[in-house]
Amino acid sequence: MRPNIKIDVPRLTGELERLARFSDAEAPAVTRVLFTDQDLKARSYLRRLCADAGLAVREDPAGNLFARWVGSEPHLPALGTGSHTDAIPFSGMYDGTVGVLGGLEAIRALQQSGWQPRRSIELLLFTSEEPTRFGVGCVGSRLLSGSLAPEAAAALKDQQGATFDDVRRGAGCRGELTEVRLRDGYYAAFVELHIEQGPLLERDGIPIGAVTAIAAPAALRVRLEGEGGHAGAVLMPQRHDPLCAAAETVLAVEKAAKDSGRLDTVATTGICQVHPGACNSIPSRVILEIDIRDTDLAARDRAVAQIRQAIAQSTTRRELRAEVEILNADPPATAAPAIVNAIQTACRELNLACQPMVSRAYHDALFMARICPTSMIFIPCRAGVSHRPDEYSSPEAIGHGVAVLALTLAELDNAIA
Ligand code: HGY
Ligand code: MN
Ligand code: MN
Repeated sequence: MRPNIKIDVPRLTGELERLARFSDAEAPAVTRVLFTDQDLKARSYLRRLCADAGLAVREDPAGNLFARWVGSEPHLPALGTGSHTDAIPFSGMYDGTVGVLGGLEAIRALQQSGWQPRRSIELLLFTSEEPTRFGVGCVGSRLLSGSLAPEAAAALKDQQGATFDDVRRGAGCRGELTEVRLRDGYYAAFVELHIEQGPLLERDGIPIGAVTAIAAPAALRVRLEGEGGHAGAVLMPQRHDPLCAAAETVLAVEKAAKDSGRLDTVATTGICQVHPGACNSIPSRVILEIDIRDTDLAARDRAVAQIRQAIAQSTTRRELRAEVEILNADPPATAAPAIVNAIQTACRELNLACQPMVSRAYHDALFMARICPTSMIFIPCRAGVSHRPDEYSSPEAIGHGVAVLALTLAELDNAIA
């Protein structure tokens, strides 16, 4: 029986707006960093919504939240959906949250249609999809998929020197990180609903994207050290200024991406911290954080190598000390054709055009793809804007995405033997 679903878009948009108010930034910007008070309030709000929907809610030692609709054959591997609710500083209200609240709404719509799943359907809220606090993104899904060693996760440090282990325990997470990794076959499939964070769907007037691959992300932390000193007293020939090397590095990052000759190669220097940060003091230390991606692993790694070489040349010439730390360097993910097909089947049923496409942003689906057949459903966002306060996706676009997600889950419950 195919469920006859009705998405309660006003309720969902109201919940998205309520969630957006759990923020350390003035609206319309959203800042919700992992395990801060606002993040904990947001998590409590979501826990309550899931409990109100009759889902069995649990939290693992990393703070990943699971809300399960138990199926008629609960011993079968479950169907997973979900995303994240942490938000980078001064960003928007739709990145990640559409996949969590939209996933909940898809489940409620299926429940209200009278349809009953064989397989349990589980909504996930992943911990720390954003790298803001600990420098590495997708900590929760990396641990779930066995892609990050528990002891390495425990030792991750934030800017104040607090470890992930201390912070998670302070947030009320119990148990050990060694318990987080999911057993083989826990999920039969995983589908993440997310805004595209790019302009293609809106440009082409297509309501749904079915993700066929997710680009390979890498991040570097570069520490440049020089002598510092008095801005008036140290003459130019005696200077060893790390901020000048940082400036050369920032341009080398841009050059490495453009030199690749591939539009898919992107590279960004998003963080530059100058110490001591006084106008009349020559910097003694600069920390850069650099993000490099490509859908092709070899091209991504060539860009990383070119950047590292440029750093070495600049710091040798300027007689500076340099330390380059690889925060993460992950391979790309390929979506499972069966999941992409299920998304396309759902779109046909709803008479919605669907475009196969690559995700240039990374998501928890990048790691879920390592443990089960995975894909993503994209919806358009205005002008492709994301990670900005003016990020926006319309109620109609969100409603379409949720309806496709609901029917995709029903299709997978039926199709997977
Ligand atoms: O950076 C990303 O691709 C994701 O939005 N965290
Ligand atoms: Mn994001
Ligand atoms: Mn996201």
